[in-house]
Amino acid sequence: MSTMQWGTPARFPAVYEELLVPGFFTAFADEMLDRGQPRDRESMLDVATGTGIVLRRARVRCPSLARAVGLDLTAGMLAVAREKSEGLDIEYVEGDAASLPFEDAAFDLVTCQQGLQFFPAREQALREFRRVLAPGGRAVVACWCDVETAPAHQALTDALRQHFPDREPVARVPFSLSSADELRSLLHEAGFGDVDVERVAGTARFSSPEDFSRSFMEGSPMAIAMADVPQEQRDALARDIAMNVRERFGEPVVAPMVTHIATARA
Ligand SMILES: C[S@@+](CC[C@H](N)C(=O)[O-])C[C@H]1O[C@@H](n2cnc3c(N)ncnc32)[C@H](O)[C@@H]1O
Repeated sequence: MSTMQWGTPARFPAVYEELLVPGFFTAFADEMLDRGQPRDRESMLDVATGTGIVLRRARVRCPSLARAVGLDLTAGMLAVAREKSEGLDIEYVEGDAASLPFEDAAFDLVTCQQGLQFFPAREQALREFRRVLAPGGRAVVACWCDVETAPAHQALTDALRQHFPDREPVARVPFSLSSADELRSLLHEAGFGDVDVERVAGTARFSSPEDFSRSFMEGSPMAIAMADVPQEQRDALARDIAMNVRERFGEPVVAPMVTHIATARA
């Protein structure tokens, strides 16, 4: 399977924060927290925290959390997370989800928004989530549903297929754990109980088709995957993505996105 090159130094985290976080990650972070319910004096870990949106929202919702920790593989994402979390008392740690640098039973709540599908060792990562949770602690894990439920992204993959058919699989990786049954089984196999997987519909919002196109070309690891392509060919792809999205959604871009959100107990 193609992989996304998270972890590679690049400037995409700043554009991720500028466009994708307000575009849809913030609203879905609130859906995660509605289910995780962080409470006073609890300790919370957000795995694959990216620029920290789940923890930033958690701190606003529950300022008296005892501890809020975010872990991610990509130093550039954590640099933006630290900058955006000033004054919020959130710790950020660079590391791999499959080998969490925390003691057993250190947390009451572990969240992971749109991270698990990218991990090469998904089962091992979920066993780690369980190990660092106190007995009875809660996990909340979100992974996108099929790409067909994200029509703006489909408009984008259509353009990518026309320009660079060999690179289309990379754009599908975010949707590579779209089966509710697979997500449920992974959690059971990692030893979790009370597993429930919900389908949660939301909306992607971008002020223009060009911003939508830029969020993908410059705000995701696609920026790395396309780094070897001459600028004029990248510009042509970006224009066609914007054109496809404009045809289907107009301006501003308001398009559906659907995720599974799994809840489980350690
Ligand atoms: C789509 S982003 C989601 C970020 C964040 N959860 C959010 O909601 O904005 C995926 C994140 O997974 C991280 N990631 C990928 N593989 C990882 C791994 N093996 N361990 C920890 N983080 C990883 C990436 O660096 C990236 O920040």
